[in-house]
Amino acid sequence: MSEPVVLGIESSCDETGVGIVRGTELLAHALSSSMDEHVRFGGIVPEVASRAHLEAFVPTLEQALDEAGLGVADVDAIAVTSGPGLTGALLVGVAAAKALALAHDRPLFGVNHLAAHVAVDQLEHGRFDRRVVALLASGGHSEILLVDDIATDITLLGQTIDDAAGEAFDKVARLLGLPYPGGPHIDRVARDGDPKAVPFPRGLSAARDQEKHRWNFSFSGLKSAVARHVDRERLAGRELAVADVAASFQDAVCDVLTAKAVAACIEHDVATLVVGGGVAANSRLRAYAEQRAAEAGIELRVPRLGLCTDNGAMVAALGAEVVRRGLAPSALDLPADSGLPVTSIVA
Ligand code: KG4
Ligand code: ZN
Repeated sequence: MSEPVVLGIESSCDETGVGIVRGTELLAHALSSSMDEHVRFGGIVPEVASRAHLEAFVPTLEQALDEAGLGVADVDAIAVTSGPGLTGALLVGVAAAKALALAHDRPLFGVNHLAAHVAVDQLEHGRFDRRVVALLASGGHSEILLVDDIATDITLLGQTIDDAAGEAFDKVARLLGLPYPGGPHIDRVARDGDPKAVPFPRGLSAARDQEKHRWNFSFSGLKSAVARHVDRERLAGRELAVADVAASFQDAVCDVLTAKAVAACIEHDVATLVVGGGVAANSRLRAYAEQRAAEAGIELRVPRLGLCTDNGAMVAALGAEVVRRGLAPSALDLPADSGLPVTSIVA
């Protein structure tokens, strides 16, 4: 059988994405973001995001079909993010996917957003031919996953117990007077700073944390440490060395993320590390990951930036794997599940 053509729909947060793939070949990748509407609030406003998905869906779908030179009738299956994410936002994509599946008599697959972040790498670097460890770091998630089969077998090794990595970037940017979303601004400002200037804490990295939190992350203590540092400097009447603080904060986040991800590869005897999520754009994270993976003899796979952040192609990429394995489609009463666990790859 030739590779299935799958249309993927993403609407879990602020990006409306429609992607089309044939197996691991990317045919189209259309995206509309409502980020501009959230900037003045300093964070994603769920109701605003849901409304934006409603408005953006049809144009984004049309753009993707145009780009692929296909009609919906050429598509073998419809995949959609059914969770985790913002319920109202997810519902828009799920409803749209159901309508397409029903109208065109195509199977519907509700798939897991986190697994899709990992699956997308296959569009760039080819199919996984062995188990991989995945590090996901974005505004909404920070996880280490052990992936035995992208469509059927994912184990959650660890996750953040408080803030997500990108969320920490966004909150610290605010403390430093930088715009939202903060990650790219901190990355830019940090270039002129000394990453060792302020010794910020490495959450859950102490020996006593290793039993319970070996693969978990914590970034809220780090955020508080930055806030205390900023206050101290102000009280002392010193001008804040923003570049040094940004570089030191960034170093703390990226050090912990990559140290744990590479340690997970070594401990589970896994030779490939996949990194995804918006924070994968970070220059320090990439540098640490490259250095540590090379030292450990681990293959590092990081999809290009446009595929790391939320998009529809990742959903299509996972959908194609699910279809290839002949798994049963989702029911037409498929719910949106904001807390869908990563072990539920197909809902
Ligand atoms: O994956 P994404 O686009 O959306 C989700 O949250 O799912 O990730 C967005 C997050 C934001 O928190 C943003 O600040 C962060 O990724 N980010 C970065 C960089 N670019 C984006 N964080 C650090 N360094 C960057 N260069
Ligand atoms: Zn995401």
